[in-house]
Amino acid sequence: MIKAITGTKDILPDEIYKWRYLEEIVITTLTKFNYKEIRTPIFEETKLFARGIGETTDIVSKEMYTFLDRSGTSITLKPEMTASVVRALIEHSLFKKQSLNKFFYISPMFRQERPQAGRLRQFHQFGAEAIGSNNPLLDAEMIIIAYNILKKLGLKNLSVKINSIGVPQSRENYKKILREYLNDYYNDLSHDSKKRFDTNILRIFDSKEEQDQKIMANAPLLVEYLDDVSLEHFEKVKRALLNAHVPFEIDAKLVRGLDYYTHTTFEIISSSVGAQSALCGGGRYNGLSKELEGPDLPGVGFAAGIERILLACENENTINTEEEKIDLYIVTIEKNLSEFAFNLAVKLRESNLSVELDYLERSLKAQMREANKFNSRYTLIVGGEEFRNGYLVLKNMSNGEQTNISVEDINKLISILMEK
Ligand code: HAM
Repeated sequence: MIKAITGTKDILPDEIYKWRYLEEIVITTLTKFNYKEIRTPIFEETKLFARGIGETTDIVSKEMYTFLDRSGTSITLKPEMTASVVRALIEHSLFKKQSLNKFFYISPMFRQERPQAGRLRQFHQFGAEAIGSNNPLLDAEMIIIAYNILKKLGLKNLSVKINSIGVPQSRENYKKILREYLNDYYNDLSHDSKKRFDTNILRIFDSKEEQDQKIMANAPLLVEYLDDVSLEHFEKVKRALLNAHVPFEIDAKLVRGLDYYTHTTFEIISSSVGAQSALCGGGRYNGLSKELEGPDLPGVGFAAGIERILLACENENTINTEEEKIDLYIVTIEKNLSEFAFNLAVKLRESNLSVELDYLERSLKAQMREANKFNSRYTLIVGGEEFRNGYLVLKNMSNGEQTNISVEDINKLISILMEK
C-alpha cells in the first residue's frame, strides 16, 4: 500500500475546523497590525537558503530537501520563509514603493528532521516580517503579535524568552572570548559541539548533551559584551513589552539556529507540549537583505509552528469542536426523481444555501439518517403521493414541523431556508 511519506501528515476533513479557526485568528490579528499577506513558491534556488540561513546551520547542512531539477539547477523546498520574503521584496523592488513593508504568511515548510510529536518533515508556519526599519518598537510588535495570537487561541502555559545577540561586530569580539573559555574544555565537548567550535561556536549553547550543558553553564554570556547601541536597542524592546503587559524572561543563552539574526532574538515556549516546546521563534535580521544582494535594509520577524500550536491547544483543550450544519438534505423517494432533486439542489446552492442529496439510491430511512449525520436544518421529501399532487414536503429537523410547498413555488422554499 502506498502511504504518506514519513514525517508528513494528511489533515483530514474532521480536523480542518481547528486549522480554519487558527488561520482566522492569525489573519485578523495581523491585519489589525497592518501586515499584508505574501505567498511565495514552495521551492527556490538552493543558494538563497544557503546564503540567507547560513551554510553551517543545521537547517542548511543537514535538513534541507535539495535536488537537481531536469536542467541541473539545485532546488530546495523552502525550510523557512524569511529568506524567500526578502528575496521577493528585492526582486519586485517593493522597498521603492514603500520604505517599510510588513508581510505575513501561512505556508507549508520542509525540513528533514527526525519526526516526533510536534516535529514533522512537512510542517506549517504562520509568520510575519517587517522590513525597512531598525526601530526596536517593531521587535516588540512582533513579540506582541505572536503572544496575542497564542492568547487568543486560549493558551495559558506560555513563556516568552528574549535575548539580544547584538551587532555582528560585538558578536565577533564575544566569539573570541567564548573560544578562549572553551579551549580549556575542548576535549570534554560532545562530538557535535567540537564541530560547532570551528563552524558556529554560539550554537554550542543549544546543545542538549549534558556534558556540553555543564560546560556552557559557566560560559561568559554575550549580553555582558554588548556594545552601547545594542544595549539601548534591547532596553527599548523590553520597555515596550512591559508597557504592552507581555510577560517575558531574559534568556541570555537564546542564540537561535539561523545565522541571519542581529539584536533581538525571541521564542515563545509552551509547557503543554513535549520536548518540541518552541511554539514560535524570531528576531531581527539587519544584514539579510544585503547578504542577498539587495539594499541594506533592516528587518525583523517571527514564525510559529501550526502543528505544535494545535497540539498545545488540544492538550489545554482550548478549541471546541465545531458543529458543521447544512441547510437542506433532499430525500428522494423515487429513483426517477433523482434528476429533479439534483436540478433543484443546483438552483438552491445558487441562492447561497448548503444542500446535499442522495447519490447512492438509498432507502428513505437511510437518507433520513444521512440528513441527521450532516446536521441538516431541514429535509425536503421529493416523491410519493404529495409529489404526484404537485407538492414537496419540507421538514424542520429541530421541531419536526412539516410544510407542503408547491413544486411551482421554489421561491417560498428558498425564503424559508434563508431564515436563520
Ligand atoms: P524557526 O525557529 O526555525 O524559525 O521556526 C519557527 C517555528 O516553526 C518553530 O518555533 C516551530 O514552532 C516551528 N517548526 C520548526 N521546525 C519544525 C518542524 N520540523 N516541525 C514542526 N514545527 C517546526 C524560522 O523558521 C524563522 N524563519 C523565523 C523568523 C522569521 N525569524 C525572523 N523572521
